[in-house]
Amino acid sequence: MDTPYRANMAPITPAQVSAAKQTACALVQASLPEFAHTFKYSHSEGNFYSASENLDWTPGFWTGQLWLAWEATHAQPLRDAAAWQVHSFWERICNHVEVDHHDMGFLYSPSCVAAYKLTGSEEGKAAALLAADQLAGRFQKKGGFLQAWGKLGAPDNYRLIIDCLLNLPLLYWASEVSGKPHYAEIANQHIHTALNHVLRADDSTYHTYFFDPATGAPLRGVTAQGYCDGSAWARGQAWGVYGTALAYRYTRRPAYIETFCRITDFFLAKLPQDLVPYWDFTFGDGSTEPRDSSASAVAACGMLEMAQYLDGARAAYYTDAAKKLMAALLQHCAVQNTQQSNGLLLHGTYARDSQFNTCQNRGVDECNIWGDYYYLEALTRLSTGWHPYW
Ligand code: GLY
Repeated sequence: MDTPYRANMAPITPAQVSAAKQTACALVQASLPEFAHTFKYSHSEGNFYSASENLDWTPGFWTGQLWLAWEATHAQPLRDAAAWQVHSFWERICNHVEVDHHDMGFLYSPSCVAAYKLTGSEEGKAAALLAADQLAGRFQKKGGFLQAWGKLGAPDNYRLIIDCLLNLPLLYWASEVSGKPHYAEIANQHIHTALNHVLRADDSTYHTYFFDPATGAPLRGVTAQGYCDGSAWARGQAWGVYGTALAYRYTRRPAYIETFCRITDFFLAKLPQDLVPYWDFTFGDGSTEPRDSSASAVAACGMLEMAQYLDGARAAYYTDAAKKLMAALLQHCAVQNTQQSNGLLLHGTYARDSQFNTCQNRGVDECNIWGDYYYLEALTRLSTGWHPYW
């Protein structure tokens, strides 16, 4: 596999990982006075986050950063703030605040499942189990998938999206702790349907895929956040990288190894020379379009997850690739001090409008909260034998 990413970048070294993780944890701690009893918004403005309530699909990534930093430092204020936030997630699911969508895993895995795994939090466990019920309730038998958005069964929203693969560990965890198999069965069916339809012949992926609500028949692939229906949205492809790694972790189906390699090799082959992806792989070297650093952080985590299950040569290949992506993020995107930003990773893109998608510009060339989280997760994976929250 001779892809451009190999040509021009040394992998991140253990010393760089250690220093970068120390810096990132110090930055998280520096945010605590402002963001202990509130959340960071989904993305920064001018590289600075403002405070937000526990709304939308993203606040779990801030709580997740607190847990990652607490694992690294054991600083009590991090644990106290995370525990306060777990209570907020408990109230959110009990009061049904903005939970009619599929992103229960993004919300509850790095916050409440993490709290349960790390500290035995019964509140975290109870909240995450309710969130798993909420997610499982979006399963559509006709088609065999979890409906991402909108009113259940509505024809204009009868679709899955590739991002949902990251929501499925919540279901597998719920089966483990409850002893009830139906959560895992739903996750298994969703993976099967999603990977059968989002993966194109050239190994790029659709962002979303529609089904016929009357028959469950597959209809068409459509983008929401990519450049156009037929393009490869960089973060969508990255969700595919990490999503198939997690699919393999929980199912051990050999076919998912090949799917992982196809999606990941496409991602790596399309990177520009400096290894920080443009927001859609329509764009490459020389483009003036913005980057999405978060796609790289997500993909690095996925490669490090999958490397644990691969044979020696392939494990080494994807570990090396992940380390090169992290070296590029460190060089071009990592925040170094609190004057620069109150986030961790610059040059992300939440949403970019194009004449062919349904987005408005949002968080363009800014930090985003999941980019910060996955950057710290990747550094943690590279420095310890980390037990995932996912
Ligand atoms: N999961 C939504 C996004 O990646 O923007």
